[in-house]
Amino acid sequence: MTTAEAYARFATREVRGVSPAYERLSLAVSRDHELLTLLDGLPPAKRQPNLLFGVVRWLGGPVEDPAAFHDYAVANWPVIEAQMRVRATQTNEAGRCAVLLPVLAALPQPLALLEVGASAGLCLYPDRYAYRYGEHRVGSGEPVLDCAASGLVPPARVPQVVWRAGLDLNPLDVTDPDDVSWLDALIWPEHGHRRARLRAAAAVAAADPPLLVRGDLVDDLPALAARAPAGATLVVFHNSVLYQVPVPRRKAFVRLVRDLPGHWVANEAPEVLPYDGLPTPSGEGLHNVLALDGTPLAWTRGHGQAMTWFG
Ligand SMILES: C[S@@+](CC[C@H](N)C(=O)[O-])C[C@H]1O[C@@H](n2cnc3c(N)ncnc32)[C@H](O)[C@@H]1O
Repeated sequence: MTTAEAYARFATREVRGVSPAYERLSLAVSRDHELLTLLDGLPPAKRQPNLLFGVVRWLGGPVEDPAAFHDYAVANWPVIEAQMRVRATQTNEAGRCAVLLPVLAALPQPLALLEVGASAGLCLYPDRYAYRYGEHRVGSGEPVLDCAASGLVPPARVPQVVWRAGLDLNPLDVTDPDDVSWLDALIWPEHGHRRARLRAAAAVAAADPPLLVRGDLVDDLPALAARAPAGATLVVFHNSVLYQVPVPRRKAFVRLVRDLPGHWVANEAPEVLPYDGLPTPSGEGLHNVLALDGTPLAWTRGHGQAMTWFG
């Protein structure tokens, strides 16, 4: 896929209907030969819309008006490029716990949670947040995560978590203002509710930090999994991570995780982690597939805002 195609696809598949500013911007970049040439000077994995837009927001540049964005990006390209080379899209979305909850709550309790690609670890606290599935409320903490769920009976209670650990190439620290400002810059412009959610979830994590280990989800998973306490169900899980992992390493990860004791919960795009015989998702936009031990269970939306259980 060319860089122009990647930006056009981001506009129509990921942000249409969810971030008008980024839809405008990514369509404009997809037709902007000057910016496309600059982007193509970066390694392919560093040309992503979320990374470019996040860096410009982090630097205080304009993202609402495509013409102003173009002028700013061209004038400030050396600093933007340098930041794109050292930063990565590490969006940490606690809202994804709302789609994990039905699976986690149904497993034998208590749980030992191990998230690969954990970023700052905000998805390691599904037991501390509260949830609203329409009229059905679960849990009593903050933030309150809204999820439009269909085709399932929402769980009656949050899971019991006795151990939480995360593995990431570059773990972020919610007590470090620079890391938090980067997580904030990665949230799409209009999403004030997600910014409030980040602050509330970061406070939960800061009060009881998880074990976060710097490492690779293939090379370093067995050693971390071996640290899980006996007597708890080990659950290795991941949300929106494998698109950042080269295909041979994805396959190695799947082979490895299937051989570990416990359970494996995946929430990834079907292009990244394919399954046979998936139903057609209702509505447009990017959908992930929630799966338990390789069995697909539901379509989920990218930030955990909706899920449709398979019949
Ligand atoms: C888009 S973020 C998602 C963060 C989190 N899972 C969530 O849903 O909020 C992807 C994360 O995966 C991490 N990652 C990418 N490749 C990895 C690898 N090979 N091993 C461990 N972590 C990796 C990145 O550093 C990043 O923090």
